[in-house]
Amino acid sequence: MQNVAVIGYGVVGSGTVELFMKNRESISQKIGRDCDIKYILDLRDFPDSPFADRMVKDFETILNDKDIEVVAEVVGGTTFAYDYTKRLLEAGKSVVTSNKALVAEKGAELLKIAREHNCNYLFEASVGGGIPIIRPLNKCLAGNEILKISGILNGTTNFILTKMIRDQMSFDDALKLAQQNGYAEADPTADVEGEDACRKICILGSLAYGKHIYPDHVHCSGITRITLDDVEYAGNAGYVIKLIGSVKKLENGKISAIVCPRLVPKDNMLANVDDVYNAITVTGDGVGDVLFYGQGAGKLPTASAVVGDIIDCLKHQQRVLALSWKESEDQDFVVNYKETETAVYVRIKADDAENLKSAISEMFGKLMYIERAGRPENELAFITPVMKEADIDSNLTILSHSAEIASKIRMY
Ligand code: HSE
Repeated sequence: MQNVAVIGYGVVGSGTVELFMKNRESISQKIGRDCDIKYILDLRDFPDSPFADRMVKDFETILNDKDIEVVAEVVGGTTFAYDYTKRLLEAGKSVVTSNKALVAEKGAELLKIAREHNCNYLFEASVGGGIPIIRPLNKCLAGNEILKISGILNGTTNFILTKMIRDQMSFDDALKLAQQNGYAEADPTADVEGEDACRKICILGSLAYGKHIYPDHVHCSGITRITLDDVEYAGNAGYVIKLIGSVKKLENGKISAIVCPRLVPKDNMLANVDDVYNAITVTGDGVGDVLFYGQGAGKLPTASAVVGDIIDCLKHQQRVLALSWKESEDQDFVVNYKETETAVYVRIKADDAENLKSAISEMFGKLMYIERAGRPENELAFITPVMKEADIDSNLTILSHSAEIASKIRMY
């Protein structure tokens, strides 16, 4: 019998237990031995749960039980989860997780501990929920130099933007709906400010480029300032607004990573990824573009990835599954986004907006103005040419002396 423990019986934890127990027979066949969940750790009581007899409250019970070979850490956060994970790995028990905050913060260290103790730290569920992306990136695409990874990595914000685009719902109303539907947390900051997507792009970038990229070194902006006016201008110009996380290798070998809303052309594959779905495009020098698409959040989709990792660990006991990247306290290899080139959509407000057009053209050169029905006379929207972002910002600072810069959104 091979025994597993689950730490945390929240949404993902209960989904993991439900899926594992439902498919236990076929999972046992895949592993070649019987397997079971022996413990579920949670501080709360679940007397009515069919698994009440497996509930424990003391972490040491799991740590000290030699029968436990694999533990799913689905408690989240970076305090208890870090302590538990470290001690489990040091005890030679493999850990699988959906905890992107912990992987993005401590991934290099925990992977090293796992290697040193001949066990595994797997985190397929930490990016893209149920979408297989970590394993394909690490294995199937390993023959490529990864040129770029780019995608919609947060289900909550994609749901909100979809409602704004399709139903002309305001940001506040769409957020409320996301909360009513159970997608957004009561405190939705990490989702709407882009922090969740930032952790995920850091994990993908670290894996693709072999060095830990820390979220603190990645420019991140969310969707809270996007208005229906921006959505309309973008739509008229042939774009939709999506929150995009991207990481790529520049010609000088450095890494550019950023999370921000972008105007995505309507004929781009990512433009049609709606609601809570996620999609990630990986560009390799051999394979070209590969698109990974699926449910990026939710109980059973995320559990699907957690259980997949449990099976992998059970099948490969005492074998380290070459998943790693190097610690890198020095983050000089991550370029400042201001030094990279982009085009941006800009919306300004000024009493004499029309009269500013020649000054704007002088600053930016050839640009494209966008219209919308009933555009107020004091408003202008335009798309700049591709320029160094620092130069765009200098121009906008000058422009801000004569106009309010109401929006600046990067082009995809
Ligand atoms: N809050 C996350 C999202 C959950 O909305 O995508 C999955 O990581």
